[in-house]
Amino acid sequence: MEALITLLPGDGIGPEVIASARRVLDVVAARYDHEFTYHEELIGGAAIDATGGPLPEPTVARCRTADAVMLGAVGGPKWSDPNAPVRPEQGLLGLRSALGVYANIRPVRIYDQLAGASPLKPEKLQGVDLLVIRELTGGIYFGEKTRTANAASDLCTYTVGEIERIVRVAAGLARERRGKLCSVDKANVLETSRLWRDVTDRLMAAEFPDIEVETLLVDAAAMHLLSRPADFDVIVTENMFGDILTDEASMLAGSLGMLPSASLGDGRAGLYEPIHGSAPDIAGRGLANPCATIASAAMMLRHSLGLEREATAVEDAIAGAIEAGARTPDIAAASEPSVSTDAMTDAIIRCLN
Ligand code: IPM
Ligand code: MG
Repeated sequence: MEALITLLPGDGIGPEVIASARRVLDVVAARYDHEFTYHEELIGGAAIDATGGPLPEPTVARCRTADAVMLGAVGGPKWSDPNAPVRPEQGLLGLRSALGVYANIRPVRIYDQLAGASPLKPEKLQGVDLLVIRELTGGIYFGEKTRTANAASDLCTYTVGEIERIVRVAAGLARERRGKLCSVDKANVLETSRLWRDVTDRLMAAEFPDIEVETLLVDAAAMHLLSRPADFDVIVTENMFGDILTDEASMLAGSLGMLPSASLGDGRAGLYEPIHGSAPDIAGRGLANPCATIASAAMMLRHSLGLEREATAVEDAIAGAIEAGARTPDIAAASEPSVSTDAMTDAIIRCLN
């Protein structure tokens, strides 16, 4: 097949991990006889430096016409002055919003060989296989913001329609998996959460009576994620709770460098990015773990390009490289040697069938 892929390397380790994903995609294309055409565009701090803004119009235009978009990361100390008029993160949030990708799918997969990299006891990790569905284009991230000398506010709003569509995505995925959905909110305090809970209860009873539903307050969910992670199948939650809980959940996998994500809207096109940030402290040194971005490329092959066999091959190759002992520093035990971003990518390509 032919596919048009927009690459947005961004800042920090973004360019390194995107280069790794592209190398893997090139091998997939050659091996399975596909033609992937890439367009590289600016976003984040790199875009601020080049154009003055974090999301130049040509970037949005190129993303809108692509079959899929792959993003590295945005942000860094150079642009993080709190008084700066523009910030790199605005580029990412603006893009998510412009593309309408409201459903952010963050799978948490455990590799047995990396149990030692997780701070949790290995027996707790037995059987962990969960999916966090994070609402991505609403909530406090996108509400009105105000700032005076003495006060500031961030408005959190959700509409019934926004809640329904994300819960439908999550429940549909639960139906293809173990049939369990956990909705996370803060309904004891927040009005948006009370609406979230009402809408979820009603929709699940009407459309998904076959799915087992559990509701947790976000503080309790943060604890349960560590005390009984294997019990979770699909978790659905609003934007900021999902942001926080997925960084926490990455510790089940051993590193933030392992978790991929897919952001989808109503169409087939999507935005694919690792859940980690730009890691400016290790940028440009070949230390970044490319697994999250390569696994995001696999999600792109599956969800936007419909290439299930190729997606599975990439996922198996990541598992194979880990099985063969390839470790970037973030997932290497003290006693284990570690490899560079490029060598980790080579190891994954060697395992690609
Ligand atoms: C993420 C990141 C972003 C977010 C930042 C960079 C704006 O933390 O994708 O999880 O908060 O959504
Ligand atoms: Mg985050």
